[in-house]
Amino acid sequence: MTCHVLVGGFFGDEGKGKIVSYLAIKDEPVICVRAGVGTNAGHTVEYQGKTYKLRQISSGFIQKKAKILIGPGVLVNPDVLKKEVEETGVGERLKIDGQCAIIETKHIEEDRSSSFLKEKIGSTGSGCGPCNVERVMRKAKVAKDIPELAQYITDVPLEVNNAIDEGKHVIIEGTQGTFLSLYHGTYPFVTSKDTTASQACADVGVGPTKVDEVFIVFKAYTTRVGEGHLQGELSEEEAKKRGWFETATVTGRKRRAAPFNFELARRAVMLNGATQAAITKLDIVYPECTGARSIDKLPEEGLSFIRKVEETIKIPVNLIGTGPGALDIIDRRSEL
Ligand code: IMP
Ligand code: MG
Repeated sequence: MTCHVLVGGFFGDEGKGKIVSYLAIKDEPVICVRAGVGTNAGHTVEYQGKTYKLRQISSGFIQKKAKILIGPGVLVNPDVLKKEVEETGVGERLKIDGQCAIIETKHIEEDRSSSFLKEKIGSTGSGCGPCNVERVMRKAKVAKDIPELAQYITDVPLEVNNAIDEGKHVIIEGTQGTFLSLYHGTYPFVTSKDTTASQACADVGVGPTKVDEVFIVFKAYTTRVGEGHLQGELSEEEAKKRGWFETATVTGRKRRAAPFNFELARRAVMLNGATQAAITKLDIVYPECTGARSIDKLPEEGLSFIRKVEETIKIPVNLIGTGPGALDIIDRRSEL
């Protein structure tokens, strides 16, 4: 085990937080590093009776032996960061790169007042798009310019690469989903950066030759917040009837829902060079799967869905979520 990258395969909200938190406990990485856009993400972790909604800090923070880092490609909002430092009790384990660009109030105001971003695209209003614009213009502030962040600053690429070179285990946590990528998604209804595994590596300063596994996370159905096409979209009433109705972690908006999209899953595996898949919320689609901890405990319906996914995407579905908690999972890696 050395460097594992984890990304979302659909439109975000696949349950990356749950999978990263499980892997952090199980695989004992020395570093969990957040890649991705910034505070537009919301990763949910449920562990030891507590629920955390994380927009900046890696979901791997529950592994107390791990350093928790944020790569230079990730946008940082100092207020959100401070709040999460308090909520998670991550303390000295948290470090961020000096080159993380800083989301300021003006970026949030611009995101929320722009009818194009807010209404046409359906942005999260977290200021990420406008901040990335300034970054491209080379005008954005970066973390090393902000005195209140001084205690957190480190050279994240150096720390990550040193750990990898020493044969230690590192998890790179991507955010959003493949089809929200600025390059590969359903443009213009996308986020302000690429979101695939290559970008996650660039976000933290790890080259492609250093990566051992790419985990891609899918939910057993698809959801999408904001605008843009969603194949097979269900009415809100039908989504509620199936138990697929969700609200967004960051914005509280309703998530639109549709069945699992096999074609998109296949393409997402290609775009990310994924080597293993995780499927979350199997218990929501097949309630008899709730709480199963091994593949032989899955009823036929759930099992045939997993088989069909594997036949389509041609990589193994090694992790299967069967409940909300970090440890509610079937881990087939141990069966191999
Ligand atoms: P922005 O990233 O806030 O500019 O929003 C652009 C689009 O990406 C909107 O449709 C958002 O709802 C969506 N989006 C951005 N981040 C996430 C995420 O973490 N989960 C789900 N959707 C997201
Ligand atoms: Mg989310």
